[in-house]
Amino acid sequence: MEMDFKNKNYLITGVTSGIGNALTKNLLNSGAIVFGIGRDAAKIDDLLTGYPRQFVFLEADLSKEIDIEKNILDFIDNSGKFDGVVNCAGKEETLPITMYNQQKLKDIFNVNFNSPFEIIRILSKKKFSNNGASFILLASVMGGLGQPGKTAYCASKSALLGLVRAAALELASRSIRVNAISPGVVDTPMTQNLFNQISEGKKENIIAMHPLGIGKIEDIIPLILFLLSENSRWVTGQDMVIDGGYSIQ
Ligand SMILES: NC(=O)c1ccc[n+]([C@@H]2O[C@H](COP(=O)([O-])OP(=O)(O)OC[C@H]3O[C@@H](n4cnc5c(N)ncnc54)[C@H](OP(=O)(O)O)[C@@H]3O)[C@@H](O)[C@H]2O)c1
Repeated sequence: MEMDFKNKNYLITGVTSGIGNALTKNLLNSGAIVFGIGRDAAKIDDLLTGYPRQFVFLEADLSKEIDIEKNILDFIDNSGKFDGVVNCAGKEETLPITMYNQQKLKDIFNVNFNSPFEIIRILSKKKFSNNGASFILLASVMGGLGQPGKTAYCASKSALLGLVRAAALELASRSIRVNAISPGVVDTPMTQNLFNQISEGKKENIIAMHPLGIGKIEDIIPLILFLLSENSRWVTGQDMVIDGGYSIQ
């Protein structure tokens, strides 16, 4: 079945970089209306000037204690109902558990879990979403696995998987589907940032742990588009692992 995104409304977080940015461009080129959230408008001049009738932007730092409900309600005022949400914003952090304090934990959970929870909570209301809408949360293979130094990241991504399963059951009566995508290492600015902080040897180890090599952004986008589209109308509550074989070893 052909995928049709034309004139449909999508809310996407993390539109300023990596997977969220590529997804936004793809949807805009398919004629969709995108309500994008990010921290830095300067990074997406091309979208703001290139798609004045299809792209609206809310600048917000999702790690802060902001009133997400008020921000979102002001942002989507008069938008019409949504057909999908894709939460791409995420904070990756490597820190020994002994270095955490409540504030550091809140910062990462606010971005990775609390804000997507709020966005799903608000947009799942009948007045804001169409029946059959698709909600997608970018989790990580780390949500199902552990790694030293990644306690808060792993825990926040794992929490998303619980949200996905429970929300999928709760929203099934309106045929709204809720799914997670859990990538292995994908070559994005987030990964480049990590690679810049570690030795060449460690970087080679990470790459070698992916039997098919590390992923590219274009390996992830088709799965997101499938989950947004009608083609996946019988798929809900799932954690779609896409990791080049990383987690089967
Ligand atoms: N790349 C990987 O290897 C990998 C693997 C597994 C899962 N994931 C997940 O995939 C998603 C997309 O990651 P990516 O690789 O595309 O990373 P990316 O290029 O670093 O993009 C992350 C996005 O999140 C936004 N963001 C971060 N902190 C924010 C905050 N406090 N408030 C608002 N926005 C914030 C960033 O905004 P700025 O542009 O302002 O920084 C950026 O738009 C993330 O949830 C990530 O955890 C990635």
